[in-house]
Amino acid sequence: MTNMGKDWLIKGGTIIDPSTGAQEVADLLVEGGRITGIAPSITKEGIPVIEARGLWVVPGLIDIHVHFRDPGYEYKETIETGLAAAAAGGFTQVCCMANTLPVNDTGAITFYMVEKAKKVEGPLLHPVGAITKGQKGEGLAEIGDMVDQGAVAISDDGNPVMNSEVMRRAMEYASHFGIPVVDHCEDKNLSAGGSIHEGEVSARLGIKGIPAASEEVMVARDLCLARQTGTHIHIQHLSSRGSVELIKWAKELGIHVTCEVAPHHLALTHNAVESYDTSTKVNPPLRTEEDRQALIEALAQGIIDCVASDHAPHSLKEKDVEYDLAAFGISGVETALGIVLKLVHEGRLTPMRAIEAMSTSPARVMKLEGGSLKVGQPAHITIIDPEKTWLVEPEKMISKGKNTPFTGWELKGKAVVTMVEGKVVWRDKASSEE
Ligand code: DOR
Repeated sequence: MTNMGKDWLIKGGTIIDPSTGAQEVADLLVEGGRITGIAPSITKEGIPVIEARGLWVVPGLIDIHVHFRDPGYEYKETIETGLAAAAAGGFTQVCCMANTLPVNDTGAITFYMVEKAKKVEGPLLHPVGAITKGQKGEGLAEIGDMVDQGAVAISDDGNPVMNSEVMRRAMEYASHFGIPVVDHCEDKNLSAGGSIHEGEVSARLGIKGIPAASEEVMVARDLCLARQTGTHIHIQHLSSRGSVELIKWAKELGIHVTCEVAPHHLALTHNAVESYDTSTKVNPPLRTEEDRQALIEALAQGIIDCVASDHAPHSLKEKDVEYDLAAFGISGVETALGIVLKLVHEGRLTPMRAIEAMSTSPARVMKLEGGSLKVGQPAHITIIDPEKTWLVEPEKMISKGKNTPFTGWELKGKAVVTMVEGKVVWRDKASSEE
């Protein structure tokens, strides 16, 4: 990192901006932390240049689903390490889930997270407050206080809200504050004791399964509640074809729903579990090839709005145990872009749709400033080398969580510069500066 300034001339990159539909080679000027010009050729004396020929210049990536474990589980991740890992993954903004210790169910915890993040020269951090006190699914959390302190949504992610009446009231409250209810869909009675997808692999390995229906029944319930209350719900980490079909139905009816898919559900199936590698253990679980194909197709068509990493770092002591006993979660913020670009290289997603799903759509879902390279916007910018190949090596990951199922994968495409309000918060050696 050689320039912490707020003025830059980014020269000759391919601008890909889903907010305008622009895909063209151009120069982009940043002054005072804002985008002040885009044109075929810009000359400006006295400001540093980033040479971007052959690179993509895109609106800063936004990950609306991360677990930074701070406060309470700092041995797994802290706000500082999480933000540094996110910057290296190309992310300029993140939304942090509430399953911390204490749970982020009050304005005081939200305040703590916001203030700690402000001290870091990194991506912007937006807390997501809990829906219920202690994420216990009973009484509602202090939603108003959390919103006052900067919470952008509410979610009990990690736990479902099993009581439909509580969920209904949460939706009514959220409507009042103009924020989405971010929804972890899982019927705990159906998933109880399961570790992997219920199917052929669970039967063969003798590991208790989690049926796809445990997600789908809750997706269906919450679509009905969203219809009843008129609230915007955002469904997290969609994993099954049935869930995709339900979302499609709901969108056709005009129910206010958005949703996300995690990179691991786009890249892997339950066959990965045959290795007994506990880094494949995640909730919802990796499902079948049919599910994976349905998710990719729905992402390409926009039925699935966003990609979000569900970055869930754990320590070795929680993963280096029998499969049944291991914690659920994948450390994903540093591999998310590479996995999505794999789909681009395979011809399954256009570059424009990939960037939309990782920037413009997440900004829209969480009502964040960003997701656009229009003149006047804050200079949240990611510069991507789409051809750079690199190896996933957990020991080189910045996150404290080394729990990745992608160890040894060669990925093609990487963020080489991550810029937040004109400040460079990540710079890979591959990029050059004059
Ligand atoms: O695998 C998961 N890990 N899924 C969740 O919903 C929560 C997350 C965590 O916090 O570890």
